[in-house]
Amino acid sequence: GGKGGKAAKGLRFTPVEANTADRVTVPQGYGQNVVIRWGDPILRGAPDFDPEKQSAKAQAGQFGYNNDFLSLLPLEHEHGSQLLVANHEYTDEQLMFAGYDAKKPTREQVEIGMAAHGLSVVVVREERRSGALKAVPRHRLNRRITATTPFEVTGPAAGSEWLRTSADPEGRTVLGTLNNCAGGTTPWGTTLHGEENVDQYFANTDKVTDEEHKKRLKRYALKGTDSQRRWELYEKRFDVTKEPYEPHRFGWVVELDPYDPEATPRKRTALGRFKHEAAQPRLTRDGRPVVYMGDDERFEYLYKFVSAKRMMRGSSAAAREHNLTLLDEGTLYVAKLKGDSPAGEIDGKGTLPEDGEFDGKGEWIPLATGDTSHVPGMTAEEVYVFTRLAGDKVGATKMDRPEDVEPSPRTGRVYVALTNNTDRGAAGKAGPDEANPRNGNKHGQVLEFAERGDDPTAKQFSWRLFLVCGDPEDPSTYFAGFPKDQVSPISCPDNVTFDAYGNLWISTDGNALGTHDGLFGVATAGRQRGQVRQFLTVPTGAETCGPIVQDRRVLVAVQHPGEVDGASVEKPASSWPDGPGKYVRPSVVSVWREDGGNIGA
Ligand code: FEO
Ligand code: CA
Ligand code: CA
Ligand code: CA
Repeated sequence: GGKGGKAAKGLRFTPVEANTADRVTVPQGYGQNVVIRWGDPILRGAPDFDPEKQSAKAQAGQFGYNNDFLSLLPLEHEHGSQLLVANHEYTDEQLMFAGYDAKKPTREQVEIGMAAHGLSVVVVREERRSGALKAVPRHRLNRRITATTPFEVTGPAAGSEWLRTSADPEGRTVLGTLNNCAGGTTPWGTTLHGEENVDQYFANTDKVTDEEHKKRLKRYALKGTDSQRRWELYEKRFDVTKEPYEPHRFGWVVELDPYDPEATPRKRTALGRFKHEAAQPRLTRDGRPVVYMGDDERFEYLYKFVSAKRMMRGSSAAAREHNLTLLDEGTLYVAKLKGDSPAGEIDGKGTLPEDGEFDGKGEWIPLATGDTSHVPGMTAEEVYVFTRLAGDKVGATKMDRPEDVEPSPRTGRVYVALTNNTDRGAAGKAGPDEANPRNGNKHGQVLEFAERGDDPTAKQFSWRLFLVCGDPEDPSTYFAGFPKDQVSPISCPDNVTFDAYGNLWISTDGNALGTHDGLFGVATAGRQRGQVRQFLTVPTGAETCGPIVQDRRVLVAVQHPGEVDGASVEKPASSWPDGPGKYVRPSVVSVWREDGGNIGA
């Protein structure tokens, strides 16, 4: 069809057709390689991956499971090398261990699972001749952070009574980070990592007798008795009847200095506690970071944090030290959105209102500044630890699962991936509104907003839906007004990033169109605004994560390949990336143009 027509610069490749192939498909003329996969050794002394001889000790020196967010940072003195930082969101024991018994995991399996969580820092180097990107094992900067690595709690809720446990009566040191989904890269050379679905690690919420405490846990989706991975069998901190406040120590944004393998990673309480998807900063004109954040659950909120401090330029020790305090002081806000069309014109089916657009105004409602709460009836500490309750109190807008939120480095406009919400309009649930206009929303939408005066600290913004996703032939879809016969179908937008031309790149998770997830580029300005073009697809059962689009290379994290209901080591659903008879392994993939040219140029 007309898909090969004139495209925006950066998106001039032949779009990949939607498919269900058990591999990574890239456009004609592009090459690909696996950069690193689950179990590859990265630290000195770590053994090669042997799925039949796994141990927690080995895993703690190997690349973790389920790579999600990726960041690539420059390495000044090592030509052709960069520092790759990856999140390891969660483990899928059925695909990791032969003969796994979900009711009775062994201690070793639990400890391997904990070691496969967290973050990896690994140097990667370009192979000049082939164009491939390869991990450099045993580099001095390589690092693993796991579910047992000590973290320092910083910011206004550090030391709060809500964060204290028997192992940490000060409420300032947490062991581990969990469920790191997406994240962000700061202009001062650190990485941010969102702790997302941390509810699944905690057992016995149903047995909690303090009703007030139980209610708070449930507001954070904790429920039931046994946890999914049963870590509570071997570590009592994962049993809320034994360690009631341990869950409060997860669900934060984590900051890592990846250039210092000895640095203690931090949990930044000023950014609030919820199911953090990601955290991508933008600087104000006077150099203060503003961090946009989504809480990824149905009917949850959109947030921003505005720092009180300016970033110091340069890489002096003093600048690095100062910049590591930027996310500890400032104001946390939640968003309230109002459509500009009469409510009666929002029919829940995605029919455009009479003014031709889903659009309106928005307001940032302050929740807390430092030790001062702006929410009646809640202390500042409570606002940070129970941020969802603060959002409820001020009447924030319930969104269709806010995932990645990123400002365009070119225009400052901010893009919010709202992945889906099949409960929208269901009995007892919120109905459609102009920002979340479809009931039973299977395919999601991408919202674009502009801060008033292009000032990221503004209290007001204007917004419009940029994409209403799905099959272009479905009348409820919308591609910023671009002709729908010239776009790739897209469903369930999750992570977003930008290329140097200002195009938005979107990776998907959970494609509800019956084909595999993938990576898409779309122009945000000019005549091709709204023209979605698919760049790659991922193997069976996988979601596409962590996209990075550099001039000459695209990186994606292929997360949970082979994760299909009923699949196991014995009954695999995918043979990617190592072929039939091998364990399925989440991996990072690099893609480049075989003629050495710029991506999509
Ligand atoms: Fe882990 Fe919201 O995706
Ligand atoms: Ca409107
Ligand atoms: Ca995600
Ligand atoms: Ca997701």
